[in-house]
Amino acid sequence: MPLSQFEIVQLKSGVNSLRLIENNETFHPGIGPLAEANILHVAQHRFAERAPSVPIFILWDVGLGAGANAVAAIDAFKTIPADFEIHSFDRSLSALEFALAHLDELDYLAPYKDACEELLVKGFLQLTPRIRWYLHLGDFREVMLRPEIPAPHSIFYDPYSPRGNVDMWNLEHFQNLRQRLDDDRPCLLTNYTRSTYVRVTWLMAGFAVGIGTSIGEKEETSLASNNLELLERPLLPAWLVRVKVSHSSAPLRGPAYELGPILPEDYTIVAAQAQFQGQT
Ligand SMILES: C[S@@+](CC[C@H](N)C(=O)[O-])C[C@H]1O[C@@H](n2cnc3c(N)ncnc32)[C@H](O)[C@@H]1O
Repeated sequence: MPLSQFEIVQLKSGVNSLRLIENNETFHPGIGPLAEANILHVAQHRFAERAPSVPIFILWDVGLGAGANAVAAIDAFKTIPADFEIHSFDRSLSALEFALAHLDELDYLAPYKDACEELLVKGFLQLTPRIRWYLHLGDFREVMLRPEIPAPHSIFYDPYSPRGNVDMWNLEHFQNLRQRLDDDRPCLLTNYTRSTYVRVTWLMAGFAVGIGTSIGEKEETSLASNNLELLERPLLPAWLVRVKVSHSSAPLRGPAYELGPILPEDYTIVAAQAQFQGQT
């Protein structure tokens, strides 16, 4: 029986990351924690362009884990003349505690050692005069409904993958998340997936969905938004052919991870989404 749920692994790139032993899931498996956080999340949110025009820019960091995404965001925020709040969510602090106990193997976290320790103890931290960092402990599906947490402009969506964590990926959850957003506050969500069934699930939940950056060996990833105009490369009608022919394009529903072809009535809902009208 291992002493910890996690272990340090060296990725192909030579950089270290964490692995959850139980389900063999590596954090930022491609190119490593900070590089992936910057390419997949920070760069795609265009903070420098979007944040200065709102009173306080709200980032939801879903799956704080070992803090790489949050740290990358903070590094970016420090260079931008705007006010920021980061709301980090996790149901467990064990990844961050493990990472803090292995700082010599995880370079990116060392400059934030004191900040993370204060966040763990107090649940809140004024990092700089313009950056506040909040920690929300518990199941994101319930915690996100707390009215005192402001609706986000950006979401780094990084829980474990659908196979072992289907509750964070099913249609019911994404419908709730879509409803929790403020329609007057354009919001962008980034994730590593390029799966047809995840994109279908998001579309059926009412998100506009776009093609995200390539990263490492992955040709593309995905973005979701409550505002089509935020997406630089929305999925086009031609993509619907893939939905029709794929053997795994049905949305995830309920607690079971079951993949299959999409039902005709679900396909009709997906094809009717605004982003597929009037485009070729
Ligand atoms: C892959 S790790 C996140 C890595 C992290 N973003 C980083 O930069 O190090 C996934 C995290 O999501 C959290 N998580 C998974 N399901 C959750 C849920 N339903 N509510 C809150 N946190 C959840 C896990 O506890 C875990 O810490």
